[in-house]
Amino acid sequence: MRLQLIQVAYLASSVLFIFSLYWMNHPRTARRGVFAGVAGMTLAILGTLLQPGISHWGLIGGAVALGFLVGIPLSWVPLTAVPQRTALSHAFGGLAAGLVGIAKYYLLLGEDPGHLTRFLMTAIVTEVILGFLTFTGSLMAAGKLQELRWIPQRPVTYPGQNAVNLALLGIAVLAGIGLILRPEELSYLFPVVIVLSLVFGVLLIIPIGGADMPTVISLLNSYAGLAAVAMGFVLDNKLLVIAGALDGSSGLILSIIMCKAMNRSFGNVLFGAFGQVQAKAAAGEAKIAKSETAEGAAQILEEASLVVIVPGYGMAVAQAQHRVRELYDQLTKRGVDVRFAIHPVAGRMPGHMNVLLAEADIPYEKLVEMDDMNPDMPQVDVVLVIGANDVVNPAARHDKASPIFGMPIIDADKARTCFAIKRSMNPGFAGIENELYFAEHTYMLFGDAKAVVGEIVKQLAGTGGH
Ligand code: TAP
Repeated sequence: MRLQLIQVAYLASSVLFIFSLYWMNHPRTARRGVFAGVAGMTLAILGTLLQPGISHWGLIGGAVALGFLVGIPLSWVPLTAVPQRTALSHAFGGLAAGLVGIAKYYLLLGEDPGHLTRFLMTAIVTEVILGFLTFTGSLMAAGKLQELRWIPQRPVTYPGQNAVNLALLGIAVLAGIGLILRPEELSYLFPVVIVLSLVFGVLLIIPIGGADMPTVISLLNSYAGLAAVAMGFVLDNKLLVIAGALDGSSGLILSIIMCKAMNRSFGNVLFGAFGQVQAKAAAGEAKIAKSETAEGAAQILEEASLVVIVPGYGMAVAQAQHRVRELYDQLTKRGVDVRFAIHPVAGRMPGHMNVLLAEADIPYEKLVEMDDMNPDMPQVDVVLVIGANDVVNPAARHDKASPIFGMPIIDADKARTCFAIKRSMNPGFAGIENELYFAEHTYMLFGDAKAVVGEIVKQLAGTGGH
């Protein structure tokens, strides 16, 4: 009876995980997706606790309490810090898989080495390699995104780096194969595999900086999922295999989508040492950016018939989405067609802008994907760039030396007039100057996004809509 109950719980949990991913496809159903995921995980934990072999309730209770202690503060992070928080979750997932692999190996080695079959050893070695490289790799990625002082933000590269990395991974895999073939005699290789995997995780991330970090985080997500699949085989737990496979494949699909969005090949993301800092423009090339007042911008905006708003990371930092909604209301009230152009990697996580704009109740149908918006850009009267920088930098189209060269951008420079709201002339995530700000028809609106948009709204409200 108890075993049947566990099977039912596991089955329901697998179905809930699949629906959770499906519902997360659209903002309208995303909340339901989150609840389904939480319900699935609760059922999975309850089902596992029902397993006959479960004992040491004190230790389990302690571990659950520790999990709560770490997990609850992690849920308080601001939306802008969610990518590094996600990377931390992958790190914990990888660590858990690695530790389970260690425990299983040494337990069986001491008590029942005959059970260390080739199949089980393959699963253990895979779990340990993927788990530990995901652990250190994700910690490095989180540290980089959090801009920790002691982790170099910019790519660290040296000649022969890819060869060194691949050689290291190759040695770890060879040692792992040795362990699979002779788990008892070659047991001294087990710590070697662990250390090499930990070091490989660090080396994998240090050449990466700038614009490709999201893809890497998503790839680490997929490694954590694969480690969970291996863990499922080690523990003979089908639900872990299913959940790990869902995690691994969704991470992989997301990485591929992001690779496409940045126009990078997978190989380039993994071995390209991308995100290099661009050499500064030669001195004496001082360019001047024109600035405009909120009042001036309001006048031009209300006379436009088509306005496109391009939100970016700065809108998230300023939490300006509600002011943006007021601006949308003011302009639509005057019959202006207002649309939002969404770049797939605007902000700091996939869907960042969609989440913020949905929070402010902007109608979903007004959110237009980059590829659908760009062909109409030359007909746009005013493009209003709110805290976006890299995703509207025309250098991505033509400057081969630019770290973002090849990344598709929203063609804000093709609109008739462009207003760009930001606090200074500082660069964005990729650390490079944006030629859009110096273009002939671009006017800067300097200030915090929330304050500037608020000021424009005030001006428009003052003149009244018809
Ligand atoms: P960024 O290029 O990072 O530029 C954001 C701009 O916002 C900055 O130039 C900054 O200029 C401005 N800003 C910051 N705080 C502001 C505030 N309070 N008010 C007004 N402006 C403010 O942003 P983006 O165009 O959205 O591009 C995203 C970048 O992040 C891409 O390079 C992308 O590859 C990378 N990335 C994306 C993700 C995902 S998945 N979305 C994850 C990690 C990294 P000031 O300092 O002058 O105000």
